[in-house]
Formats: sequence, structure tokens, C-alpha cells
Amino acid sequence: MNYSSTAFHEQYPTYADTTELDKLRAIDFKLLDDTNEVYLDYTGGGLYSTSQVAAHTKILQNTLFGNPHSDNPSSIRATKIMEQARAAVLSFFDASPDDYCVIFTSNASGALRLVGEAYPFRLTGQFLQLIDNHNSVNGIREFARQAGSSISLIKSQRDDLQVRTEDVMTALRNHQKGSRLFAYPAQSNFSGVQHSLDWIALAQSEGWDVLLDAAAFVPTNKLSFSLIKPDFVCLSFYKMFGWPTGIGCLIAKRSSLPKLKRPWFSGGTVQALSVQGDWHIMANEYEAFEDGTVNYLNAPAITLGLDYLQKIGIETIHTRVMCLTDWVLMQLKTLRHSNGRPLIEIYGPLTTQNRGAVITLNFLTPGGQIVDERIVSREAKKYRISLRTGCFCNPGAAEIAFNLPPEKLAVGRSNSNGNGNGQSFDHYLALMELQSGNAIRISFGLASNFNDAKAFLEFAHTFRDTHFSTQDLPKRVHC
Ligand SMILES: Cc1ncc(COP(=O)(O)O)c(C=O)c1O
Repeated sequence: MNYSSTAFHEQYPTYADTTELDKLRAIDFKLLDDTNEVYLDYTGGGLYSTSQVAAHTKILQNTLFGNPHSDNPSSIRATKIMEQARAAVLSFFDASPDDYCVIFTSNASGALRLVGEAYPFRLTGQFLQLIDNHNSVNGIREFARQAGSSISLIKSQRDDLQVRTEDVMTALRNHQKGSRLFAYPAQSNFSGVQHSLDWIALAQSEGWDVLLDAAAFVPTNKLSFSLIKPDFVCLSFYKMFGWPTGIGCLIAKRSSLPKLKRPWFSGGTVQALSVQGDWHIMANEYEAFEDGTVNYLNAPAITLGLDYLQKIGIETIHTRVMCLTDWVLMQLKTLRHSNGRPLIEIYGPLTTQNRGAVITLNFLTPGGQIVDERIVSREAKKYRISLRTGCFCNPGAAEIAFNLPPEKLAVGRSNSNGNGNGQSFDHYLALMELQSGNAIRISFGLASNFNDAKAFLEFAHTFRDTHFSTQDLPKRVHC
């Protein structure tokens, strides 16, 4: 095993165009090297740069901000920073303010819920989703179900977890007259597969409203609304630039927003209301969707974070992470136990075509069995590696990756009631007679470098011809 930096640079000459990121890492992400940590969970959460946090702190130290819903000096300043943040989001995604507006939420899930709960699902309505979706998209099916709408799934292919455009077209054409919502991720948070953005226009031409989950895509890929016109897009800012957590947004097409009918009103979302008269008039546009007081003190951090990415250039980040992803994929594929059997099983495409900077895999024993992901997690800690284990809130993609038959998966249904019942995830695995159904995910981002990728490959080597003890593994509580 000799992972030479020189060979890597020769193989990936475009990596040299991204050296600006090495300079930033030495200053803004110094903590990584100071603490000898290997961070490989950018799809879970981006890392924050110290300069961005310092600039944000400075603004708060030097300016007085009050609650934005008022007309006093501190409130006017807060309104201004909120408006600056909204404008920065639209500009970052090349979205015209005439066509799109930004609704701040607590995260991408909050944005998805806003759409799900307000979408006019009715008996004639339809909700169409990929099987490869985050649970916060899967959850929309419950709103559709309550309204009596039909719910359909488009499956991924077993071999590379991609979805065929023919299958999407067949599902899109199979529509009724009512309101119909098609939801899918621009990038799978399970496998890194990038689903075609061309489906947006195709779906709209068949009368579907499109909800694009861009949470895993936007940290390392350019999303330009000059090329695509989705009705609704959700994201979380901490995935893009680490700080602040607790704020995301829904970017909504102004012409599609009136379709959403909110099931309630709250402070900040009404223009006028009478308690005794029992009537209310909702506020206009995005204001009708931001419940209570928005996270206004974090607004400057959004503007700063987007500016930070803009200055680096999302293409530069993309180039770097794709070089690293390609290289790690190539190396992992060659790893073998001494008996010639593969050390790794990769889920998703084996090349960087149609995929982002995410690699999901399992380690295999010399006998070809999957190494329990809890062992991998335990071992990774010893090397100070932050990687992800589980199904990453995307059980649908995992069901396809592990070829789990629907009949087996249905067993859990009679034991579920939609409420917590004190049972662990292990209990459901046992019911479905599954050994694990989980995997290991690594993902690259803004501060990643060659050494991170190399550290993971060296870690992978420790599984060669090795049997690890399964004693004292913690219970799996969640999927
Ligand atoms: C593709 C995708 N969608 C939605 C989400 C939900 O994001 P959040 O937890 O910030 O609401 C995630 C989180 O990992 C994700 O990867």
C-alpha cells in the first residue's frame, strides 16, 4: 500500500486548480490538522470556517438588532439583514427575484414539511416520489395519505442505484386530473447518485409540481435556476458552509406558491385576524410561511457563507471533491483479501458519472460476509475518522442496495402504528430476519484534501484478512 501524492496529482491534473482550498484549510479549517481529525461526513454537515464565524460575531458585537416585525431602529436593521440574506440566496442560485422567493425554515426538513402540509392533496391528487429519498421527503406521503391522494414510487436499479428516465416518464404520464406533486433529490444522500435535473421540465410538461430536494447537492455542485425552474427547492445552510445550524430555506416559485394552503396561521403569517369574528387573512407570499420570529441573528451568517462559497467558486470545490471521489473509488475497487475476495462492496455507480462526492460501502470479511457497520464505526473512532454509518435516513435506497424483497419489508407493517412504541431498530431487523441493512458512508466537501482520502484508504486496509470481535456492540436504536 503506497498512496503517493505525486501519483495522485499526475493522475488528476485539475486538482492543481484547487490549491486555493489548501490555503483556506490551513487558516479557516486549521482545527482539522491541529487535532489530527479526518472529517468525512460533509453530507451529514459541512464544516464552518473560523473567518466566517469571526465575521458573523463581529457584526453581532457591533450592531444592535431587535425583532424584525416592527418599525424601530433595531428592528429595521434586523429586517434589512433578513432581506440581504434572501437576496444573497436568490443571487447564489441565479434565481430572479421576480420569479422566486426565499422562505426561511429551521432546516431542509422544515421546508419539506411546509410543502407537504400545504400542498392541495385531495382524493384525486397524487404524490410521486423516488424510492431514493430522504425520510423528510418520504414523510410527505403521510399528508398525501390523509388527504386520500394516491402515492407512487419510482424504483432505482439494483446494480448502480440509478433511476432510468424511461421509468420516470412512465410514472409521470400515469396521472389523473388532480394536483400532483413529484419529489426527488438532486443528489442521493445514500449513494451520491445525481438524478437528472431534466426531469423537472419533463414533469412540469405533464402537469406535475416539482419539489427538488437539493440538500445534499448544493454544497459541492452548481445549481442554477437560469437552467431549471423547479416549483419548490429545499436546503439546509449548515450542509453548505457549516455555520449556522438551525436554518434552512424553501425557495419557491412565486407562481406556484399560491397553490399551497397552510393548515394554520401563526404570529407573523397573518395580515389581519379577528379572534371573536373568527376570520383571518394570511400575509402575502413568503411571509405567510415563516411562523413566528425568524432566526434573524443568523441571517448575516447566511450572507457571509454564500459569499464565502461564491469567492472560492462552487466549481473549484466540485473539481476537488470529484478528483478525490474518483481516486478513492478507483482504489477501493482494487482492494482484495489475500484469498482474492473483494474487501469492499460499493453501493451506487462505480465511476464518477452521475454521482457526487459520496461513497457508500460495506466492508466484507475474507469469507464474503458484511462486516457489521458498528464494528467499522468503533474502529474508525480509533483513527479519529468521522464517517457515517446506518442508512442515513434513506431506507428506500438501502432496501434496493441490499435487495430486500417487499414481502420481507412488509412484516414490520403489522408491528408499526406510526407512533414510538419503545422498540429498537434492532427489533425490526430481527422481525424482517435481516442481519443489518446498514452501510458506511464517506463524503467530501469544501475542506477535504488528499490526506483525508488517503487516511480512509489506509483505514480500509486494516480490514484486510482481519476478523473483528462482535462483542459489546451497541444496540441499533434508529435506522
Ligand atoms: C438529501 C437530504 N434531504 C434532506 C435532508 C434533511 O436535512 P435536515 O436534517 O437539515 O433537515 C438531508 C439531511 O441529511 C439530506 O441529505
